[in-house]
Amino acid sequence: METERLQPEEIERAAQFIREGELVAFQTETVYGLGADATNDEAVKKIYQAKGRPSDNPLIVHVSSKDQVKQYVEEIPPEAVRLMDAFWPGPLTIILKHKKGTLSETVTAGLDTVGIRVPDSSSALKLIETAGKPLAAPSANTSGRPSPTTAEHVYHDMEGKIAAIVDDGETGVGLESTVLDLTDRNQPTILRPGGLSKKELERIIGPVALDPYLSSQAQAPKSPGMKYRHYSPEEPVYIVSESGHGWNKVIEYFEAQNEKIGLLASEDIIQTYGKHAVATFSLGRKEDTQTASRLLYAGLRFFETTDATIILAEAYEESDEGYAFMNRLEKAAAGNYL
Ligand code: TXA
Ligand code: MG
Repeated sequence: METERLQPEEIERAAQFIREGELVAFQTETVYGLGADATNDEAVKKIYQAKGRPSDNPLIVHVSSKDQVKQYVEEIPPEAVRLMDAFWPGPLTIILKHKKGTLSETVTAGLDTVGIRVPDSSSALKLIETAGKPLAAPSANTSGRPSPTTAEHVYHDMEGKIAAIVDDGETGVGLESTVLDLTDRNQPTILRPGGLSKKELERIIGPVALDPYLSSQAQAPKSPGMKYRHYSPEEPVYIVSESGHGWNKVIEYFEAQNEKIGLLASEDIIQTYGKHAVATFSLGRKEDTQTASRLLYAGLRFFETTDATIILAEAYEESDEGYAFMNRLEKAAAGNYL
């Protein structure tokens, strides 16, 4: 199959592919999504094939306005309405009780709940509206790899496997949406940290819990996708943290092993240690967690185009703002701290 690269002005053609049950990758504010008509079971199955995604991992449903949500869920609690009003369109996925039979069963992977969001991207909203369908869409990467933040990343992973990519430029947030479970009204719970922080959610609905799995791997995650290998580039990633061995020792160690170092870090660290690396990728100023989040996946992918044999990545503070960034980096590094 030839994968067409479409401009936002060619949305009609992209929508046509969706109506015909084909896959179209599209930009959102978080990462590029791999979209299919969420009501068409055959189409949704193609997503799992193209990504090599485990079939027990449900997909997020993208709609163009909050009015469409009631078609697909049993009930919309008042907390959900307040969050939708505050943050949609935006990087928040809300898990609610699914109204059975209204979506492809493959979307929910057999669960009785469904995750829904309205993406903050004009081309995504136009695609949903023109196709006249809710779009089931995971991140448009091959399973296990860093999520795509440009059309080029999608093309690299999906060329020949999907009908089209709508290229609407780089994504703004750079990390996926926050997944919030509201199926138990008394206990709103973050299943996956993301573009909206815990504090931002709490400002609207009060106390929000974190899925215990996020801090202790001993528990099974409530969000099936959290248990898989994730966000990993070809080279092994090691996190260098202030409480660990320190940059000098770590660099000395890998140089002695004849490894070629790729350095993924803030400007200051690159200034100081860049001379020991065969390639560097700056995440911006250390205080600017937003920029670091936007650039993380592009940075991880960048080293695949270089001679680096390992990636040393700088740890950021796990503050409210840096929490999602560190969650993704830890997974990319499979928990390897030095
Ligand atoms: O920002 C995003 O959320 C991007 C863009 C494309 O919208 N999408 C995305 O999808 O990250 P994906 O499939 O890569 O991740 C979806 C996550 C997975 O961890 C999945 O297990 C979880 O959401 N999820 C989806 N439906 C769920 C449900 N009913 N219950 C619990 N977790 C759910
Ligand atoms: Mg993903």
